[in-house]
Amino acid sequence: MTARDDLPAQQQYDALKARHLKLNMQRGQPSDADFDLSNGLLDVLRRGDYMAGNLDTRNYPGGVHGLPEARELFGQYLDVPAAQVIVWNNASLELQGFVLTAALLHGLRGSPQPWVRLSGKPKMIVTVPGYDRHFLLLETLGYDLVTVEMQDDGPDLDAVERLAQDELVKGILFVPTYSNPSGETISEDKARRLSQLKAAAPDFTIFADDAYRVHHLFEQNRDVPVNLIKLCAEAGHPDRAIVFASTSKITFGGAGLGFFASSEANVAYLAKLLGVQSIGPNKIEQLRHVRFLSQYPGGLGGLMKDHAKLLAPKFQAVYDALAAGLGAAGEYATWKTPKGGYFVSVDTVLPVADRVIALAEAAGVSLTPAGATYPGGVDPHNTNIRLSPSRPPVEEVREAMQAVAVCIKLASEEYRTAHG
Ligand SMILES: Cc1ncc(COP(=O)(O)O)c(C=O)c1O
Repeated sequence: MTARDDLPAQQQYDALKARHLKLNMQRGQPSDADFDLSNGLLDVLRRGDYMAGNLDTRNYPGGVHGLPEARELFGQYLDVPAAQVIVWNNASLELQGFVLTAALLHGLRGSPQPWVRLSGKPKMIVTVPGYDRHFLLLETLGYDLVTVEMQDDGPDLDAVERLAQDELVKGILFVPTYSNPSGETISEDKARRLSQLKAAAPDFTIFADDAYRVHHLFEQNRDVPVNLIKLCAEAGHPDRAIVFASTSKITFGGAGLGFFASSEANVAYLAKLLGVQSIGPNKIEQLRHVRFLSQYPGGLGGLMKDHAKLLAPKFQAVYDALAAGLGAAGEYATWKTPKGGYFVSVDTVLPVADRVIALAEAAGVSLTPAGATYPGGVDPHNTNIRLSPSRPPVEEVREAMQAVAVCIKLASEEYRTAHG
């Protein structure tokens, strides 16, 4: 069944409800099949196998920077020397929270004062639609959020350049590769412009959450991630970029490794602050990841190819169901077809996103809550819907997406009837 059936949308929806579906398209998590690819992590270290070179991982070896092998591996991942990387525990969000808090309490390198001592609340530029946890983190820490549109080639840089003339605007937090939720990758041109930006704040910082840097869906057709750290160094702002990432969507969601990279001077500055709150990260986890990823056929790249084999058909199912159910893009909705990442973002033509999500919920299809992709949970246009096809099996994705198409049609027709 698709929304293109000749039945009126209401009848299609009634038929949908009668099926008592129970589908979930809101969890941006790997599937069990994705996790199974990394089960080797669970026994890669045998009893007695805990030495990383001459470092005993059972103790507190090597301080806060992380195991040298892990820094090397994730340095390659981010395309920077190992000396510019700190490998920590799971959750890159925790690292983002740490740096954003450090900036408030102490300032970053080159800050005239801690950001809490500014004449007003520090402001952070975020892209919309964007990642709800970025908004929550910044809002909870007391930042004022200013939004710029995410365009096909990255953040709206005209807007960023304008906003950065305000001294209270201390930086931008965004996803440079396969953005959450709309899948865009910043172009080299825009990344260079960002690195060269003339900002009023001397410590304007690019917080790049590169969570999906290697998460390509297709072998041949992929976006090219930028190297913001290198570009900022070339532009004479070596401390400007801090790039975060993790293996949460590579190995295990809640049991991977988070890491970040910046200039060596920034790494030294932030390592000192990290060292106050911890003697060091979990090195046994780091050793396991290094061993597992280096033994995996094709290494980390090989693992990502295996993920792509599982994920690409799910994304294709979303694209196909939207095209089949909604006809030409622009009639009921527009959508992007990202080449990687974890999400697909749909925009309804009419302001009905909340109604679509409620209709889907009532029909047993759980979607990301309305407004989640905007600060404060309020989508000013009421059009954006984030779809997460990674977790359910492909047949469920197909079924759920056919249902979503019906809901978009019905909500749009209801709106047209109500508004003439
Ligand atoms: C853009 C982005 N950053 C970070 C995360 C979470 O990463 P971690 O588990 O490393 O905190 C996600 C997860 O959905 C994400 O989409």
